[in-house]
Amino acid sequence: MPARDEYIAAIDIGTTKVCTFIGSVKKNNTIEIKGYGSSECKGIKKGLVVDINESIKSILASIGAAEKSTSMFIDSAYIGVTGKHISFLNNWTEINISSPGKIVRKSDVDRLIGLANKINISSEHYVIHTLIKQFALGEEKDIADPVGLSTDKLAVELLIIYGSIIPIRNIINSIKAANIEIEDIMLEALASGEAVLTPEEKESGVIVMDIGGGTTDVAIYRNRKMIFTYCLPVGGDLVTNDISIGLNIPFAKAEEIKKKFANVDINFYETLNRINMDDIMLDKNRATLNIRLYSIVNDRLKELLNLVKEKIEAYGFIHSIPCGLVITGGTANLKGIAALAENVFNMPARIGTSLDVEGPSEVVGNPIYATAIGILKYANQIRNFLDLGQFDGRRQKSKGFAARFREFIMRILRND
Ligand SMILES: Nc1ncnc2c1ncn2[C@@H]1O[C@H](COP(=O)(O)OP(=O)(O)OP(=O)(O)O)[C@@H](O)[C@H]1O
Ligand SMILES: [Mg+2]
Repeated sequence: MPARDEYIAAIDIGTTKVCTFIGSVKKNNTIEIKGYGSSECKGIKKGLVVDINESIKSILASIGAAEKSTSMFIDSAYIGVTGKHISFLNNWTEINISSPGKIVRKSDVDRLIGLANKINISSEHYVIHTLIKQFALGEEKDIADPVGLSTDKLAVELLIIYGSIIPIRNIINSIKAANIEIEDIMLEALASGEAVLTPEEKESGVIVMDIGGGTTDVAIYRNRKMIFTYCLPVGGDLVTNDISIGLNIPFAKAEEIKKKFANVDINFYETLNRINMDDIMLDKNRATLNIRLYSIVNDRLKELLNLVKEKIEAYGFIHSIPCGLVITGGTANLKGIAALAENVFNMPARIGTSLDVEGPSEVVGNPIYATAIGILKYANQIRNFLDLGQFDGRRQKSKGFAARFREFIMRILRND
């Protein structure tokens, strides 16, 4: 790309599509989308490479389309990762404060974070993010910034997000085979949150749910910090599959029907018989068809939402989410999904599209592109040392990070 420093590329490798976005960093440090390319993806399922040649083909096609749309050449990119192999742990690290008056200095915080980042994780795993959840002064928790406060003991709790090396290696190998340098990899749930959440939502407490084709990526924020993440290996394709089986029609037809006619808003049920599905040309009674479509889609989505809810409940987070749910990803386009989610979770829900980015409205306004746009936004913040809202220990102020990341990529390529 020309002027490397001014342009950023992001690649979102999803179950149904790979998309490559090129953004430029504007003077006020926001991103403007210059162009993008999207290509159908057959080689990746639920964040896992299942066919390397197909994956490479889709990646190359999406990069080619993005390059064509901008007349730029991409040689490096930030990559999103997801999958049920991704997990997290909370880790507390503590140090004694021995300065005069026991006042915490900036250097104490740096020392503590340095120590906390030395977390031992098995060689089968790779740490993707180390995010600060909170500091504690002795027994007093929930401290946002301890500098200047007095204490004997200073502790920090990190949210360490990690994934299995093998699936990450397969993604890296696919990208490298497409001749792209990897700048960094990041969690897709975090990227989607970055794209669609307002600072107020992150501050008060919010659940972001990216429902794609094969996965549902979840993140919870409170006090501006991500405190939980989860990947359910189920997405909108399961709904299509059920329509296909339930109505005995091919998957592609079921997908078309879902996008055009499915609506899970309970109020919509009342009007079902008036919907005209004639142009679908199915040899079935129209009213029966509508009602069956409603119940198939409604049942499947309810089940998916309940699975997410149960997981969040199991971690005890369900009662402190004043801003409710923000739903994004391609399945957020399904009509009535926000109303259904409000019902299941018993909290407000809205559809999340990308905020504070410039670009064509059909892209910025479509939740299907939230992950890719979020990767661009997060990458811009890392590169320019902007406030991430949450310290990401693997990156910010960690001078050796770039070198260590290159070493990790080299190891992957050598197959160590
Ligand atoms: N208008 C629409 N109505 C209903 N569903 C839609 C609509 N548009 C897209 N979808 C669904 O969105 C899903 C694809 O979403 P998305 O592109 O976010 O997934 P992905 O990133 O490829 O996959 P994943 O993130 O799960 O690996 C598909 O199941 C598709 O049917
Ligand atoms: Mg996705």
